[in-house]
Amino acid sequence: MKGRVLIVAGSDSGGGAGIQADIKAVTAMGGFAATAITALTAQNTLGVHGVVPVGPAFIAQQIEVVLTDIGADALKTGMLHGAEVIDTVVASVRRHAPGVPLVVDPVMVAKGGHRLLLDEAEAALRERLLPLAALLTPNLPEAEVLAGFAVRTEADMRRAGEALRALGAKAVLMKGGHLEGDRVVDLLVHDGGIERFEDARIESRSTHGTGCTLASAVAAGLAQKRTLIDAVARARAYVRAAIASAPGYGRGHGPLNHAVWTGEEQRP
Ligand SMILES: Nc1ncnc2c1ncn2[C@@H]1O[C@H](COP(=O)(O)OP(=O)(O)OP(=O)(O)O)[C@@H](O)[C@H]1O
Ligand SMILES: [Mg+2]
Repeated sequence: MKGRVLIVAGSDSGGGAGIQADIKAVTAMGGFAATAITALTAQNTLGVHGVVPVGPAFIAQQIEVVLTDIGADALKTGMLHGAEVIDTVVASVRRHAPGVPLVVDPVMVAKGGHRLLLDEAEAALRERLLPLAALLTPNLPEAEVLAGFAVRTEADMRRAGEALRALGAKAVLMKGGHLEGDRVVDLLVHDGGIERFEDARIESRSTHGTGCTLASAVAAGLAQKRTLIDAVARARAYVRAAIASAPGYGRGHGPLNHAVWTGEEQRP
């Protein structure tokens, strides 16, 4: 086992996204996952049926006791619910993990359409959390909200990635899963230029939690001291393999097969 990752995110009772996907992804990458839970969701493949937020002081306590004892080589944030939670996380990270690479998955809306971030929190995310990110991983609707303009083409994705870097994120992985077409393009916009990843789209309903899984797998790679490009390349390959071998559970957007890579020999 190599690389400690602290994940700050919400629980998905369905096991396909959120904290559950995060722990499975970090484990599959050979890392160690610790968690600070920001909210509980009653969720399945059909949608989010209920949310119970965790109080900011208790979120801060989870982060503090983990970081002051176990420590972390990378951090990942997912569902943060509201502005107060974002400000709590920003303060905790600054205090207890300065300089530790942070992957910010700016979760706003669940695959089924349920809002996971209050409108009033968008400014806090953009102005206070985003500048701490070693990597920001927006999907296209999130990139539109954060950048403030429509993102409908690959050229728009480049512009949005650069705009989000100008707001303070060190690097931005623009995820193209929401664009139409039989190819999927993700763009990694970083200080050395733009890395383009293109693959065939996998025809599948089992794409619940792809974003959480990808961001946590990248965080595990960074915790293991891989380069950003290498960490992203491995995480994408993992997500693709996990979609391709998904078990097909549930009647909606089904979970991935997080166990597709179980050992050192399978990890590139
Ligand atoms: N059908 C697919 N085939 C292949 N790759 C996919 C497919 N759907 C998504 N991906 C990949 O999965 C990753 C996550 O992208 P996506 O745009 O789905 O994120 P997301 O919307 O944040 O996901 P989530 O709904 O879980 O939050 C990206 O690397 C994307 O290219
Ligand atoms: Mg997402």
